[in-house]
Amino acid sequence: MSRSIFRRKAVEPTPPQGLRRILSLFDLTALGVAAVIGAGIFSTIGEAAAMAGSSVTLVFVLAAFVAGLSALAYAEMASNTPIAGSAYTYAYLTFGEIWAWVVGWMLVLEYTVGNIAVAISWSGYFQALLASWGLPLPLYWGTDPFTLWKQAQAFLETGDPALRPAYEAWQQAPRWAGIPLIANLPALFINALVTAIAYIGIKESRTANNLLVALKIGAVLLVIGLGAFFVQPERWLTFMPNGFTGTMRAVGAVFFAYIGFDALSTTAEEARNPRRDLPLAMILALLICTLLYVGVALVLTGLAPHKTLAVADPLAYVFNQLPISEGWRRFLTGLVAISAVIAMTSVLLVFQIGQPRIWYVMSRDGLLPAWLGRIHPRFRTPHRATLLTGLAVGVPLFFSSLSAVVDMTSMGTLVAFAVVCAGVAYLHYRPPAAYAPRFRVPYIPGRWLYIGLLGIGLLWAYLSNPQGFSALWDWSQGGSLWRYRVFLLILLIIGYFVVSYNLSMLPILGLISTLYFIVELDMQNWIRLGVWTGAGLLIYFGYSYWHAHVGRGSPMAPSEEAPGAP
Ligand code: ALA
Repeated sequence: MSRSIFRRKAVEPTPPQGLRRILSLFDLTALGVAAVIGAGIFSTIGEAAAMAGSSVTLVFVLAAFVAGLSALAYAEMASNTPIAGSAYTYAYLTFGEIWAWVVGWMLVLEYTVGNIAVAISWSGYFQALLASWGLPLPLYWGTDPFTLWKQAQAFLETGDPALRPAYEAWQQAPRWAGIPLIANLPALFINALVTAIAYIGIKESRTANNLLVALKIGAVLLVIGLGAFFVQPERWLTFMPNGFTGTMRAVGAVFFAYIGFDALSTTAEEARNPRRDLPLAMILALLICTLLYVGVALVLTGLAPHKTLAVADPLAYVFNQLPISEGWRRFLTGLVAISAVIAMTSVLLVFQIGQPRIWYVMSRDGLLPAWLGRIHPRFRTPHRATLLTGLAVGVPLFFSSLSAVVDMTSMGTLVAFAVVCAGVAYLHYRPPAAYAPRFRVPYIPGRWLYIGLLGIGLLWAYLSNPQGFSALWDWSQGGSLWRYRVFLLILLIIGYFVVSYNLSMLPILGLISTLYFIVELDMQNWIRLGVWTGAGLLIYFGYSYWHAHVGRGSPMAPSEEAPGAP
């Protein structure tokens, strides 16, 4: 068995043309920007800024650097492999089937669980918008029943007045046969809408997406431009209020904001010139988003004390605090709410396009049932996988909380990024005969550089926090120290390979920095990730292993609804 779970797929030079090939470089870059700028910059940035003060700007640059290293690795892979499926496909070509499955399973965290997070944030801003127009939605139709129940219970236990509205909403919710009818209706609605657009066609999705991106960039620029008038530069002096450790804890929340640039690689089979345009579009999208993010982070941290920013809608919050007229205040907060709603709609759309295309390729490879990968005869979209994505996002909306899904999204994405970086390092060392990427990450020999950087890193860790560093070696101390011990062990293992084979330094840097970001996420997330991976492996060994086409001489799944039907 050990040989076959590592069986590899060969590159299909011309994948079966079931999907419409219409996306240009412009469309692809727009897809990248669409997928990246969303809940991260409008919601999760608040918590990050509260922890890191104005150094959150630096964290954005650092996260851009890490995402950039992964983007380079994705770009090389995409320029070699014009197949939908993104990191799943790359892992299948490089490390074999079981890794491909694990990465495909992680991408469900990125796209499906990511969309649950974004839909919840979208709903929050949409409700704020309705309220600003004098049409507030009752809490029982704007919150999931599970969260509302927990808040109502907490009110009964603590009497916290901030929780009273939740308790009252629980009491007042309409009932059917005694069951309270509570749901986050806006989140369910937007999920149904983007599923419908993604179902109907890539052309319609592209048009909707390009429009949303233009509006989104305009709105974010307006937020930065208007916010800049009120910035108090002395606020930026609160640079690292919680020290370096506090700043690094903001990394998880900030990284979420960069997730998505890779989503455009799922449309490889719909791109006109994928080998040339996918790498370029990823890098362009990342650059555009980084510039906008740094602008927003500067404005946010220049407008209010960092401690006050840990709210779900930090930009609306800071504009609300400004000493300006009521009319201006309403205009600015309305602008933020509209920008957020537009920005998050496009993230939802791109993720809702991305997930089905990964399942489509997995089904074509036999790892998922063939019926899931069928192409709609008229719309030429993977319609069943699209509907399944809609359900997979919609059902958990009845019980998911925002913070848990945000971290799990980051976890899954980071694992996928790590595998792609490791894949490029491996391919530079031992490229298969057919490997001919149009774009290559520059090869920088890693042997001495790795040893040097590891030495500097350890010295710096010691000098910046001697006590914490010594505690690492005191085995009687546990807790979060274990995460760093495991990380150190991984660094040594990677180091062994880098030094032995003089591996390519840039993808290795991408690999260790993504792993470091994973380490910074807390233990609860590691446990969740372990459970998630275990569940995925059960499906793999229960179904996919036995049905995979690779190695059986039948690379494609049969399809009743013929791909390429008009
Ligand atoms: N980067 C995407 C967002 O911030 C997931 O919404």
